[in-house]
This record gives sequence, structure tokens and C-alpha cells, in this order.
Amino acid sequence: MTEELTLADPQERFQDFLKSDKYRRRLSEMPIIESTSFVVDFDDLLAVDSELAEIMLEKPDEYLEHAGKAAYAQLQIEEPEYAEQLEDEKVTVRLRDLPETTSLRILGAEQIGKLVMVEGIIIRATPGRPLVTVAAFKCKRCGTSSFLVQTGPFLRAPFKCGDPACESKGPFDFVQEDSKFIDSQDIRIQERPEDLPPGQLPRWINIKLVGRDLVDLARPGDHVSIVGIVRAAAPTMPRIGKLRTFRLHLDANHIDVKSKEPETISISMEEEEQILDLGKDPWIHRKIIRSIAPSIYGYEYIKEAISYLLFGGVAKHLPDITVRGEMNILLVGDPGTAKSQLLQYVGRIAPRGLYTSGRGTTAAGLTAAVLRERGGGMTLEAGALVLADKGVACIDEIDKMRPEDRVAIHEAMEQHTVSVAKGGIVATLNARTAILAAANPALGRYDPYRNVAENITLPVTILSRFDLIFVLKDLPEKEADAKMSEHILELHRGGMPLVESQVESDLMKKYISYAKNVKPVLTKEAVQRLKDFYLAMRSSGTEGAPIAITARQLESLVRLAEARARMALRKEVIAQDAEAAIAIMRRSLEEVGIDMASHEMDIDVIMTGKPKSLRDKLKVILDTILDMEKETGMVEKKALLDMLETKHSVGAGEAERLLGQLLREGTIYSPREGFLKKT
Ligand SMILES: Nc1ncnc2c1ncn2[C@@H]1O[C@H](COP(=O)(O)OP(=O)(O)OP(=O)(O)O)[C@@H](O)[C@H]1O
Ligand SMILES: [Mg+2]
Ligand SMILES: [Zn+2]
Repeated sequence: MTEELTLADPQERFQDFLKSDKYRRRLSEMPIIESTSFVVDFDDLLAVDSELAEIMLEKPDEYLEHAGKAAYAQLQIEEPEYAEQLEDEKVTVRLRDLPETTSLRILGAEQIGKLVMVEGIIIRATPGRPLVTVAAFKCKRCGTSSFLVQTGPFLRAPFKCGDPACESKGPFDFVQEDSKFIDSQDIRIQERPEDLPPGQLPRWINIKLVGRDLVDLARPGDHVSIVGIVRAAAPTMPRIGKLRTFRLHLDANHIDVKSKEPETISISMEEEEQILDLGKDPWIHRKIIRSIAPSIYGYEYIKEAISYLLFGGVAKHLPDITVRGEMNILLVGDPGTAKSQLLQYVGRIAPRGLYTSGRGTTAAGLTAAVLRERGGGMTLEAGALVLADKGVACIDEIDKMRPEDRVAIHEAMEQHTVSVAKGGIVATLNARTAILAAANPALGRYDPYRNVAENITLPVTILSRFDLIFVLKDLPEKEADAKMSEHILELHRGGMPLVESQVESDLMKKYISYAKNVKPVLTKEAVQRLKDFYLAMRSSGTEGAPIAITARQLESLVRLAEARARMALRKEVIAQDAEAAIAIMRRSLEEVGIDMASHEMDIDVIMTGKPKSLRDKLKVILDTILDMEKETGMVEKKALLDMLETKHSVGAGEAERLLGQLLREGTIYSPREGFLKKT
């Protein structure tokens, strides 16, 4: 144990500290904002009176009380009239920014009763609710009122009646009108993902907020730094008593909301130089793309798209609307095509990255939920998209999300907010999150003859909110298979894949965070390219297609081009950026079944699938094959060509070409020379 610490005249010493210009000014501002509390920067106290500062940390209950009285005494000098109005002859002193942050991991018995600062994300919050500070009770026998100062979690009635003539031990009636209340709120914070040791579950702690100035200051999803006193309380078991194991919580003294500030990853001078050098590298784009999940073979264009997602476009805050800068990308793919691996990797390297499954890892799922607490109250819990605010949420198996999320995710993906109105809680949470999602095709494997919406069990309204969609097919292809197996086997032998020209992940995080402060602007040339492409796409749409290409795709193109400029730390979006954006958008459109070469984009783009005429022909061919298979098991190619020509008037040349396409796509195969069969 430490020796008993005491200081002589603590109140006078604190009042001396408050006599600096800075704090006198702060005191004189109290009447203006009608505040009953008063914030002291801990550093200032440490500089002026280090003994007092240190004892504050050790014995906060006692010394915050002294500080409060001192502040009141000084307020009486600065603003006597306002001081008169304050009831308790006391000001609540709040301490901001302690010299060190205590990790939730090491918080334990040793800190009980001490003042600490912790950091984390708010994952839950109850609505603000009144807490009794002084309870009024009326004796049922004689009607005398007595007042009892309340502490602790339960309402305490007087031991006996205050009237000496009665001294009855009850019963008493609680009188609400005569009692005093203060606003309070319970929140829970959880370790930030970036503080989490690999493979560990995040720790959390409950925090009690008391006072009008603390309640509703922060919302679920906010990153906060909280100064508070560590408390231990034993949970009570009904009819058994209190448990011997106590649970820690914090009584908050001060809250700083960090997510209102710009992203802060500390970057040293040398690192900044490294970053600027990297930005000048003519091969920077390729370098970054190569650095994304290098152990995963191929998928060059998907990695390119992912790197655009990591950097993001510039959000536009217009007076009336806000256009998001973050991108959403969806990977639809056959089982075992490394989707989960890619997502997990991105969750690790992205600043504020988070990997979760579609169901979410908590009751809050992807968006948010209102839960019933043990005591019967309601609490709002933040889901994955809110927790990844200003970061990247990697959502695996998004097709399996909760029905509630299916409704709420529309708003999250476009407006970047999550609104909740349930169980008396009404709140709008921020979800300024880039989404990288993965899904399995509805039928197990991607069927190229169906359109995207038919292939994924997600409504078109959600699909159309993805800037890019890619299809990962597991097709047997000799050459690629050989290369990939070599690559995988080499990995398992302990060899490293080609690591030339990669950016190491720690530097990458910093590079991304630095680049996000660059706000590139479109040049005239870039605007022209995007416009030409967009207009061409619009005009080629046929009437009657279910979904029209919309301004959404144009906004996507702008985001992609801006992200590419950011990757090189450029302040201008040049023609090359626009072209790269167009190329990747084109690729995505083709992947989901749009035939760009034929200029017959009857897709009216995204969701309809293959050009209708082509789809019809392929369907005729497949149906014919299936029919003939029923009779002969496998289909002789010559007979098939005859049948197509005579019955369906598909010429031999065209039929050959389409069969070639079906073979390449793996929809049919050739079990024997001259014969075909559907897979
Ligand atoms: N292109 C590739 N390069 C390296 N490894 C690969 C590649 N494709 C698949 N793998 C390996 O195959 C395994 C399966 O990958 P993963 O679990 O990510 O598939 P998935 O697409 O998520 O499948 P599912 O749809 O069934 O969830 C992983 O171990 C992964 O490393
Ligand atoms: Mg998977
Ligand atoms: Zn009485």
C-alpha cells in the first residue's frame, strides 16, 4: 500500500490555481452557458501544482470535492450573482486529458477508487433518464417529510421517521415532487479495433454519466476518451445476496468525443517524408494494388477496386444534401474463391477496419438494435456499420443479414446514417462507412444466364447501392489452375509470394490516413471523359429494361477517379484517373453480364444481366441440350447443330461461337470428343 497521502489546505491550493487568467475567464463564462460544471485541463494543474494534481488521481472522490468548493469560492468572486443561483454551493469540476490512457485490458482491482482515462468506442447507450439525488419521503403514520441524500444504485428509504415524537420505522411514501433529480445515462465502451491484440476479443466497460452536460454528449459509434473514477460493485442475486466477485464500472467525470475530430493516426516527420516519397513513385498505383493480400493469387482488378475503396472519394457537403465519398463493393462468388480471405485481410489493414459476418457478431447486427436491459430499461446498441464509422466494414455473407438490417441498410449505404425509433429511443447514428461485402450465389454457383438480382438473394435496391460488383467464378482453366496451385503450394511450403514492390502494412495504414486529407478536384479533361462515357451508356439503354442507369453510376465514377488521384496524393483528378475509373466500372458491368462489346447495353445497365437477345439464344441452346440429354445422356455436337439450325434457325457459325462461350464459362463440357453435356 502507498502511504497515506494528504495535503494541507487543498481547497485554498486549488483556488490559487484557479486565479490564472485562463480559468478566471472560464469561470466568468459559466453564467453565459448556464453551466454548473467547469473543465480543467489536467496538464495545467500538473504544471502549476504537481502535488495537487497527483493526489487528484489517487483520491479523486475527496479532492474533486475540494476542487468543487474551491471553484465555487472563486465563482463567488468572479460572478457573485450567478454563484448565488447555484443550489449546492458547489461547482462540478471536470478534468480533461490525463497524462496517460489506461487500457481496458489492464483495468483491475488496483485502480478501484482511482481516477483514470480510458479510450474506446461507445457500443451501447440508454436514453437519458432522471436519477434521484435527494429523495423525499413522507411518514405514513405522522406525515412528516424527511429528505435523504441518495448514492448507490438502489433507492434507500429512511431508517426511521425524522419526527422525534414518532420515530416510526415506516412505512414511508416516496414523494416525487419534493425529490431532486439529475440527468443520467448508462453507456458501454469497447476497446477500439486498432488497440486490439491479434486474435483477442474486445474488452468493454460500463460507464455511468451523471449531469446534464455529460448526458447525450456522445452516441453509439463515437470514439471517446473518458476520465472517470473506477468503481467496483457486486451484482445482487435475488434472495441470495451480493456476489463476492465485483464488477468494475466507471463514474465519468469528463468525456471527449474523438470522432468529431479529423482522423488521427500519429505520423512522425520521417514517416511523412516516406509517405511523400512514396506518393511521387510513378508506379505507386501498381505498388499499392500489389500490396493488397499478396498471398491471394490473381484478382488483380478486384485488388485494384479494393485499393480505391481504401482511399475513397471526397464527400461533398452541399448546403442541402451530402454525397458520400466512401465506396461500396460487392464480391459475389462461388465457394472457395478466397472471398473471406480478402475481406479479412482488408479488415486488418484498413484504418478503422472491421470484419464481420452478415449476421453480425452482436445482437445489433449490421446497423443497430434496441435491447431490453436486465433492469427493464431500454438500451441502444450499435451494429457493425456504426462501429466502423469513418472506416471500412468488411461484411462476409451479406446475403444472410437479419431482416431488420435489410430494412435499415438502405439508409446506411447511401445516407451514411442509421436511424432508430423504437422502445422510446429515437436516435440517428453515423455510419460513414465504406463497405466491402461478399455473398454466395443464390444457387450455390453463379449462373451466367441469370441476372445479378437472380443470382444474389439481395433486393435490387441494395444491389444498386454498390458502386462495383464483381463475380468470382471457380472455373476450371488449365493454365490459371497450374499457376494458382503452384502459388498456393509454394505458400504452404513456407515460401513467400513475389514480394517485390510492396508497401508494408503499417506504412500503408499511415499512407491511407495521410492521403485521406488530400481533396482532389476534377480537371476539365477528367470531367469530359466521365461525361462521354456516361452519356454513351445512357443512350444505349433500351426501353423497358427493369433498371435504368442512374446518376448513381456517375457518382461512382467520380469517387473512383478521386480515389485514384488520392492514391498518388494528387490534388487534381486527371484524365488518366477518369479512364482507370471507367475501365474498372466497365469491368464490373461486364462481370455482371453486360456485353460492352456489342454496344447493346440493354441492361439499362446493372442488374438485368446479359443482353436480352444473346440471353435468349443461349437459353435456346441450353434448353435444346437438356432436351436431347434426356434421350441420349450426352449430346452429339453434330446432331445439336442440325437441330438448332432447322428448329430454331440458329446458324452453324453462330451456334459454334455460342457453344464455345458456354464451354469457356464451364456451363457445358465435353465428356468425349464431339459430344457435349451440361455441367
Ligand atoms: N486465388 C487464390 N489465391 C490463394 N488462395 C486461394 C485462392 N483462392 C482460394 N484460395 C484458398 O482457398 C481457401 C478458401 O478461401 P475462402 O474461405 O476465402 O473462400 P470463400 O470464397 O470465402 O468461400 P465461401 O463462399 O465458401 O465462404 C482459402 O484457404 C484460400 O486461401
Ligand atoms: Mg467465405
Ligand atoms: Zn412519523
